[in-house]
Amino acid sequence: MAQDPSSNPLANKQQAWSALFSEPMSELVQRYTASVGFDQRLWRADIEGSLAHAAMLAAQGVISAQDLADIRRGMAQIAEEIESGRFEWKLELEDVHLNIEARLTTLVGDAGKRLHTGRSRNDQVATDVRLWLRGECDRLAALLADMQRALVDVAAKHSETVMPGFTHLQVAQPVSFAHHLLAYVEMFARDGERLADLRRRVNRLPLGAAALAGTSYALDRAAVARALGFDGLCENSLDAVSDRDFAIEFAAFASIVMVHVSRLAEEIVLWKSQAFGFIDLADRYCTGSSIMPQKRNPDVAELARGKSGRVVGHLMALITLMKGQPLAYNKDNQEDKEPLFDSVDTLADTLRIMAEMVGGIVVNAPAMEAAALKGYATATDLADYLVKKGLPFRDAHEVVAHAVRLAIAAGEDLAALPLERLRAFHPAIDADVYDVLSLHGSMRSRAVAGGTAPAQVLAAIERHRARLAAAG
Ligand code: ARG
Repeated sequence: MAQDPSSNPLANKQQAWSALFSEPMSELVQRYTASVGFDQRLWRADIEGSLAHAAMLAAQGVISAQDLADIRRGMAQIAEEIESGRFEWKLELEDVHLNIEARLTTLVGDAGKRLHTGRSRNDQVATDVRLWLRGECDRLAALLADMQRALVDVAAKHSETVMPGFTHLQVAQPVSFAHHLLAYVEMFARDGERLADLRRRVNRLPLGAAALAGTSYALDRAAVARALGFDGLCENSLDAVSDRDFAIEFAAFASIVMVHVSRLAEEIVLWKSQAFGFIDLADRYCTGSSIMPQKRNPDVAELARGKSGRVVGHLMALITLMKGQPLAYNKDNQEDKEPLFDSVDTLADTLRIMAEMVGGIVVNAPAMEAAALKGYATATDLADYLVKKGLPFRDAHEVVAHAVRLAIAAGEDLAALPLERLRAFHPAIDADVYDVLSLHGSMRSRAVAGGTAPAQVLAAIERHRARLAAAG
C-alpha cells in the first residue's frame, strides 16, 4: 500500500515537526545535526523496540490489530532492505529513527504514522542504545572469557618455567611464567565481574518516559520491558531520557580492560626484545621494516597498547558530555554514540587479537631462567633461611647484603659460592642452604595461598578452568 510521498510528513523533514518552521535548514546545519551516518548501526534495536512498542499499543487498544499487522509487515521489509544494503539512508531525515519511521509510513501508510503514539525519540534512542549495548556486553563477556582461556592454556604448560619476577623492573624473586600469566587472568576475571554488574544497570527500559514527563496513553511499560528482555524500568521519566551514566560506566569498564591489555602488551614487547629474549611471536603477528631487513616488530602488541589511549579518551568524552547537563534530554546526548561504538569495536578487536597472539607465544625457558639467575633473585630466600635458623629478619637482611656484594664482585650467583665462603657471613649457614638458593627451590617454598609454588599455581589453573567452563 505504497503512499503518495506528499501524504508522508516525514518524506520531507522540513515539515516533520510541523508547519511552525518558515525556512529550511541550511545544508551545514543539516550535516552538523544529523547522526544517521553513525547511528544507523542501531537499526536492529530500533526496529525491535518499535515492534515491542506497537504490540503493546495494540494490546492496550491504542492502535488496531490491523495497524499492528501493517507495522510488522513494513518493518520486516525494512529489515530486509537494510540487511541487503538496499535501504536508502537520508541525511535530511537526521537519524536512524526518522529514517526507519519515514520508510515505514511510505510502505504501510497511516499505521506507520501511528507508531510514534505515546513515544518520543528521546525515550526511543535511550532504549535503542541500551538494547544494542546489552548485546555487545554479552559478546564482550565471551571475548573476555576467551582471553582468559588463552592465558590459562599457556600457563598450564609453564608452572615449572622459572622467570625473574620484577619490582621496579629490577630482578626481584623467581616466579613461574604460569604465575605471571595468571596475574592477568585475575585482572580479566575482575573485568568480567565489572561487565556483568554494569549490564544490570544497562538493562532497564526507558520507553514510556516519552519526551520527558511520561505520557497520558495507558501504556503497559512492564509488558514492553518483558518483551524486550529488560530486567526492569527506568523509574523516573526525566532520568530515563537524559542520563547516560550506563554508557559512562561501560566506557570506564572498557578503559580498565584496555589498561590491563596495555600492561600485557607492554610485557610482550619487552619479552620479545633482543635484550630480554624471553618469548617469540608467530610471524603473523609481526611486521617487518621497510629499511631494516632484520626486523620483526611486535606491532600488534604495540597497537593494543596504543589503542588503550583511545578508549580512555572515549571515557573522558562521555563523562564530560554528561557534566552539567540540565534535565532532561539535550541534544548533547547524540554525541554519546561514536565514543561508545568505537569503545566496543576497539575492545572487541583487541581482545580477539590478543587472545590469538597469546595462544601462539613461543617461550624461551632457558633465557628466562638465565635472566633469573643473573639478578640474585634468591637473596630473599637466603635471608628467610637465616630467619628460620633464629636470626631476626633485619640482621639476616644485612648478612645477605654482604653475601650479594661478594657474589657480585666474584661475578657469581649466590648458589655458586662454596659453603665455606657463605659460612664466613654467618655460622648458621649449612649445606642445606643450596636448596633455597636454587630458583626452583625458591619457587617451591612460596606455597602460601596465591604464591608462585607450582602446587598453588596448578590449583589456581584448575579453579580458573572450572569457573570458565561454568561461564560457557
Ligand atoms: N538522534 C538523537 C540522539 O541521538 C535522537 C533523539 C533526538 N531527540 C530530539 N528531541 N531531538 O539523541
